[in-house]
Amino acid sequence: MVGYAFMGAAHSQGWRTAGRVFDLPLRPAMNAVCGRDATAVRAAARKLGWAAAETDWRQLIARDDVQLVDICTPGDSHAEIAVAALEAGKHVLCEKPLANSVAEAQAMVRAAEAALTRGQIAMVGFNYRRTPALALARRMVAAGRIGTLRHVRATYLQDWLVDPTAPMGWRLRREHAGSGALGDLGAHIVDLAQHLAGERLTGVSAVTATFVAERPLSDGGRGRVTVDDAALFTGRFASGALASFETSRAAAGRKNSLRIELNGERGSLAFDLERLNELSFHDQTEPADAAGFRRILVTEPDHPYLKAWWPPGHGLGYEHTFVHQARDLVQAIATGAPPEPSFADGLQVQRVLAAVEESAAKNSVHTPVPA
Ligand SMILES: NC(=O)c1ccc[n+]([C@@H]2O[C@H](COP(=O)([O-])OP(=O)(O)OC[C@H]3O[C@@H](n4cnc5c(N)ncnc54)[C@H](O)[C@@H]3O)[C@@H](O)[C@H]2O)c1
Repeated sequence: MVGYAFMGAAHSQGWRTAGRVFDLPLRPAMNAVCGRDATAVRAAARKLGWAAAETDWRQLIARDDVQLVDICTPGDSHAEIAVAALEAGKHVLCEKPLANSVAEAQAMVRAAEAALTRGQIAMVGFNYRRTPALALARRMVAAGRIGTLRHVRATYLQDWLVDPTAPMGWRLRREHAGSGALGDLGAHIVDLAQHLAGERLTGVSAVTATFVAERPLSDGGRGRVTVDDAALFTGRFASGALASFETSRAAAGRKNSLRIELNGERGSLAFDLERLNELSFHDQTEPADAAGFRRILVTEPDHPYLKAWWPPGHGLGYEHTFVHQARDLVQAIATGAPPEPSFADGLQVQRVLAAVEESAAKNSVHTPVPA
């Protein structure tokens, strides 16, 4: 694994746990973690459960005991590390957004497609797909339970940038993060919308804003924010269904608020990450006198991922999405099946993000998303 902070800790939790909950065909071994600071990476290795520490990702990739490289660094290093790892014969898991630009993501897809012919798997870390309630939602959409799709409505809101004195960091610099709330949070809801709908967005119309233009640096100076604080956009799916998206890191009181609703001709589905064990379903075909949204408690053994966990009603949390991600990746490696979400799925999300930025720069003009 490269990087050992927020996502590094979450992925470590996934790698430690997956083989103890699920019967996996292969055993994940946490052989080495990489960071740039020798003392800090050794401490992280001890805390998170990695056997060895490296200070250069190239050394990590060169190790014979490393067969899978898990990339948990900011977006500016995803493409270089992923392409090098794939060319060195390793499987790759890469955090989202896949890259900082469409061109980088295209290079990653080329490397992943060549690697797949050699039996190597490359997956992008859209972990929310692995929330059981959202996996169930996908299953219900695919089974026709909401019929022809008309609307997807998605919001992903946080509030850690409401405070104008919140410090500068890599997430606020375009050269490190690619974009702001758009790539950080918007990437998740774009992926979820396309995944749940089972089709892609063909065009978008957007507005973006940076509310606080400069922020304090650790040396006492001030640095310019070069990414968006918020992005709002509408979109059209290939089928003609409509979508709306809102993402912000300046939405006071919203900590990690991801909500998504789908409306179809036969019914609707709604999900709220703050109640992640639940899925709301309205069946439009039921008699009107007793119809309405019902709360499905997604903790039954027949629900996705749940057979391996606790008895009904006992509930899972955020971290379990990373356990499921590790489980699905190990199974893809064992069977050689093309993984989901693939690097190609990550590229498609990247194309939507680029179209959003282009539309916002052109006064919200409707901008096509190339296939
Ligand atoms: N799936 C999710 O829900 C989710 C949530 C948060 C972040 N992310 C993504 O995960 C990635 C990392 O974000 P984070 O929140 O963990 O960031 P972070 O700042 O908490 O951690 C980044 C880590 O990368 C290390 N790093 C940076 N450059 C490196 C290099 N060249 N070599 C080795 N290590 C390097 C840093 O030292 C640090 O350990 C980003 O792509 C981000 O968008 C995904």
